[in-house]
Amino acid sequence: MSSGSFPARVFIQEVVTRDGLQIEPRFLPTADKIALIDALSDTGVAKIEVTSFVSPKAVPNLADAAEVARAITRRPGVTYVALVPNLRGAEAALDAKMDELNLVMSVSETHNLANMRMTPAQSLEGFRAIVAAATGSGARLNGSIATAFGCPFEGAQPAGKVLALAEAYLEAGMNSVTLADTTGMANPRQVAELVAAFRKRFGGVELTLHFHNTRGMGLANVLAALGEGAERFDASLGGIGGCPFAPGATGNISTEDLVHMLEEMGVPTGVDLARLLELARALPALLGHDIPGQVAKAGRSGDLHPAPTGLKAAS
Ligand code: COA
Ligand code: ZN
Repeated sequence: MSSGSFPARVFIQEVVTRDGLQIEPRFLPTADKIALIDALSDTGVAKIEVTSFVSPKAVPNLADAAEVARAITRRPGVTYVALVPNLRGAEAALDAKMDELNLVMSVSETHNLANMRMTPAQSLEGFRAIVAAATGSGARLNGSIATAFGCPFEGAQPAGKVLALAEAYLEAGMNSVTLADTTGMANPRQVAELVAAFRKRFGGVELTLHFHNTRGMGLANVLAALGEGAERFDASLGGIGGCPFAPGATGNISTEDLVHMLEEMGVPTGVDLARLLELARALPALLGHDIPGQVAKAGRSGDLHPAPTGLKAAS
């Protein structure tokens, strides 16, 4: 880590109703999705990735994207985002008045074929058409680079290839970039190096880090990115989520664990951790299974336990 100092504020971007739900074994009813998003809007998160406008055959859990986007209450100050893979999805997201479209493709050819059924070149060509379609709409465009820290089929991806794709995004007219560790392959040293290289090459371009905790390195990777000046992180309530088209994918870093860590470190996030924990603790009943997030179970570091009675030193 070069600087060793931390940003004045970290922006928390909640992805539970997109990345989180896309891989769930069961469809979460539309009304429950809307209620969850509305509750998250009141926690102080900077962005909420509401849904994906993708093929309902590819991701049946998010087949209600338009309905959800229409029904949520938009809170001023929160940016409402939708993932889009192609022009058709972008047009639907623009119709739904999303504030931001998250254009996603993989730097790895094999994962892009598995996930999007397109070569990276085809995805990029489609993205140029999306930029043209979105011009004048007022919607922001973020470009996500999936498998930026490694692909479950191809392994490591050269940093030069990742940065070249970021450059292509920016040249095409996108406003910001996300480096995504789709299957939790990133390690903190690699993260520090790639974030430093990105910032050196692209200066103040808005950068988001999207980590999965598949191998227990998620929050260590956050710390490494923070040390290089990153200040935006995607995270999922409860730590659920994953790409259905990447073998072995598991949950995102947990939003409440991330906010708890930052709060304990004295780094402001603007997020009400108590409210977030209430929502995380309600998730198992909503989903029908346990969640990987740890602070929802353990409580905050400051939640002390009553001391055992009758304590005295052994004489
Ligand atoms: N929204 C809704 N439906 C869409 C769509 C979109 N953005 N894009 C395509 N479709 C529909 C087509 O109309 C077609 O439907 P039909 O079979 O009823 O005629 C079907 O999806 C397949 O369309 P096609 O253009 O042949 O695409 P494909 O089968 O090559 O799939 C994608 C390409 C990108 C649409 C599909 O792979 C996809 O949605 N992937 C998203 C994966 C994802 O979300 N991964 C996790 C997040 S990283
Ligand atoms: Zn993800």
